[in-house]
Amino acid sequence: MIYALIAGTGSYLPGQPVSNSDLVARGIDTSDEWVVERTGIRARHLAEAGTTASDLAHQASLRAIEAAGVAVDEIDLIIVATSTPDFIFPSTATLLQSKLGIRNSGAAFDVQAVCSGFAYALSIAEKFIRSGSHSKALVVGAEIFSRILDWSDRGTCVLFGDGAGAVILEASDKPGILASAIHADGSYNPILCVPGSVAGGAVTGDPFLRMDGQAVFKFAVKVLGEVAGEVLGQAGISAAEVNWLIPHQANIRIIQATAKRLGIPMEQVVTTVAEHGNTSAASIPLALDLAIRDGRVRRGDKIVLEGVGGGFTWGAVLLEY
Ligand code: ACO
Repeated sequence: MIYALIAGTGSYLPGQPVSNSDLVARGIDTSDEWVVERTGIRARHLAEAGTTASDLAHQASLRAIEAAGVAVDEIDLIIVATSTPDFIFPSTATLLQSKLGIRNSGAAFDVQAVCSGFAYALSIAEKFIRSGSHSKALVVGAEIFSRILDWSDRGTCVLFGDGAGAVILEASDKPGILASAIHADGSYNPILCVPGSVAGGAVTGDPFLRMDGQAVFKFAVKVLGEVAGEVLGQAGISAAEVNWLIPHQANIRIIQATAKRLGIPMEQVVTTVAEHGNTSAASIPLALDLAIRDGRVRRGDKIVLEGVGGGFTWGAVLLEY
């Protein structure tokens, strides 16, 4: 039996933390109290002009590659989950491949599932590995959401940050990923979207993130509870046997409500939303890497990773680290 096992993780955040008070100083009509009370967010990192998603992905990947102890030439699959790619094309994954100096290896492609992008990408990589077609995958979530925010819309601009997280997923005879599930329902796309595009050399439509916050909140809590239950059911494992829940980091109240639904105490939930804000597809691998490096997550631990995002899309992965 071929399993897909996480061999190493890495992450990267650009620049210094930008606090809620820093945003007020920059002229955003908000307050630290409002943002902390509604979301739990205290700070986020914002990339400098000129830094791209593939730059962040590159730094996170170098750390994951070092942690896994693999040679770059062994990597035969690169999947980058991002909704803020460097270009329309080529893909951020091929740009990352080039930055890593990997030539003529296996496949490299992007996955666009917004905040559940990493759950999608990990689930896809697992299927490639279990099929035997590929043996060492670099799976990355990398985002520069600051580029698609309307900084005059205080209801959205305070929520997001930039960053990247990466894992090396490799073929193993030991259990790694135990179950995964990914879903979508396109009828919900108006409640969270960037409804613009490039045509004839100009932006058509609206190039900024738009959101119905309350509708997103309700939908997120519902599907995060359901999809975590689904992967536990697939593996025949109870929530009591889970060591860590690592959810997408959008809002501490969504995270608390999901943990409560699952009966997992908050002490077993990894949260980074206070320090990172919502980094979309990067949030899960950023939180995973942090908890591995600070010693909370140990080999053998059972972990549920789960995300929900625009589309709407949602997904979860149950793994033994
Ligand atoms: N600072 C101060 N006041 C604000 C701010 C702000 N940053 N933003 C909005 N307000 C004001 C509004 O103008 C409004 O004022 P009014 O009553 O005078 O009109 C008031 O606060 C309430 O606004 P609401 O939008 O109703 O606030 P709500 O309680 O719904 O909180 C929030 C908004 C935090 C966005 C919440 O709906 C939420 O967390 N939703 C989840 C959305 C989310 O996490 N999205 C992330 C992307 S999706 C994902 O990752 C899954």
